[in-house]
Amino acid sequence: MRHLLDTASLDRAEALRILDVAEDMRDTQSREVRKLPTLRGKTVVNLFFEDSTRTRISFEAAAKRLSADVINFSAKGSSVSKGESLQDTAQTLQAMGADAVVIRHGASGAPHTLATSGWITAGVINAGDGTHEHPTQALLDAFTIRKRAFGDDSRGRDLAGMHVAIVGDILHSRVARSNVWLLTLLGARVTLVAPPTLVPQDVSAWPARVVYDLDEAIAAAPDAVMMLRIQLERMNAAYFPTEREYSRRWGLDAERLAALPDGSIVMHPGPMNRGLEISADAADSPRSTVLEQVANGVSVRMAALYLLLAGERTDTNAEEDAR
Ligand code: NCD
Repeated sequence: MRHLLDTASLDRAEALRILDVAEDMRDTQSREVRKLPTLRGKTVVNLFFEDSTRTRISFEAAAKRLSADVINFSAKGSSVSKGESLQDTAQTLQAMGADAVVIRHGASGAPHTLATSGWITAGVINAGDGTHEHPTQALLDAFTIRKRAFGDDSRGRDLAGMHVAIVGDILHSRVARSNVWLLTLLGARVTLVAPPTLVPQDVSAWPARVVYDLDEAIAAAPDAVMMLRIQLERMNAAYFPTEREYSRRWGLDAERLAALPDGSIVMHPGPMNRGLEISADAADSPRSTVLEQVANGVSVRMAALYLLLAGERTDTNAEEDAR
């Protein structure tokens, strides 16, 4: 794999390969010594132009557990705030010998620009670009759904026959976009649930059903309900009357939680607005996979870095290194 820019252009075999390598990585994380020598001598740069807590830390942990050197670069306090362009920043990283660049950027398409510009030779991983895509988030979500469903028997399996409801601020969500492409690629059925104002205009071209009523979506007994954060920082207008009204109609409260069938899980990519899109009862219930998603994120990002930076090696190397 040369870059990981989106899920829309992944094929099924590539997606399953990342998830299966992530299984190998996860197995190594329960040992006493969690560090693998695999990426010794490689340099991974975390280039974050937008705020992030868990994604940046997750990539850092993943790179370090593979023994790569990690350079964290956040736009705040850097020359970017003095107006340095993406090109100059990229060329600086190239001169420093970056082997992989993990980029989060407010502009949709920035990772693609970086990967195809010729400014750098490093592999590029998209850690979230504007409202476009967030592929490692969708991969860790798919990994989490698969793990809850199949446990130790997950390898090689897709999500055929599963039904996932994605609820909330679809309009501004790169997590929703990446998940719609990946989940359907893996055979799942996706229902989007949102107020009409938070549904993207081009949604009819997406492989998903849209409903406006959360109770109707819950009555359809989804295997997973993925709650999205209301992205107030991307809203320059009023998309719903009040927060109270939003949480009454589209929030996952105790009553809706109780209406979910046994075995269905509650997901959230974080950060959560507790009391808005998700109640504390739902976030902290045994159905909630929020912390599993965070833990699985490290394994999935280890897999992505491994496939990008050690990809020319044979398939059995991951397993050998894991021994
Ligand atoms: C998501 C993001 O940044 O797109 N968060 C994350 O990566 N954990 C979702 C969000 O910010 O709501």
